Amino acid sequence: MLLRSLIVLSLLATAPAAFAKTCKVEIESNDQMQFNLPEIKVAADCRQVSLVLKHVGTRAATAMGHNWVLTKTSDVRPVAIAGGRATIADSYLPTGDARVIAFTRIIGGGETTSISFPTSKLERGGDYTFFCSFPGHWGIMKGKFVFG
Ligand code: CO
Repeated sequence: MLLRSLIVLSLLATAPAAFAKTCKVEIESNDQMQFNLPEIKVAADCRQVSLVLKHVGTRAATAMGHNWVLTKTSDVRPVAIAGGRATIADSYLPTGDARVIAFTRIIGGGETTSISFPTSKLERGGDYTFFCSFPGHWGIMKGKFVFG
């Protein structure tokens, strides 16, 4: 009986960490330089975002590559311009740039990639935008990211 009580107590003690809410997001990109979502909403109680990016087209990553990058809306332009001077191996992003909240690698047609990132870097109700940093894509390949 005592042993059973101890086991229950120990489970309760670890429960908060074990059940921290992870929220899943799936987004597609295509050969027409488009994402399939104009907006992504993540609820305020999500501790972690698990994001899957699919490229449903057929063109190569070097020709029609896509990634998913999250920054404050005001950082999109400077990060995208700096990213345009980087290489595909660096996901067309400046290395180690603190303005980049989360990003995936560049993928081509038929490929899928995924990332997980904590929402602790986000402010509820903040003004965020997701975009593709492949050179020339960020002007139209972008959407609103809402947290909270
Ligand atoms: Co793209």
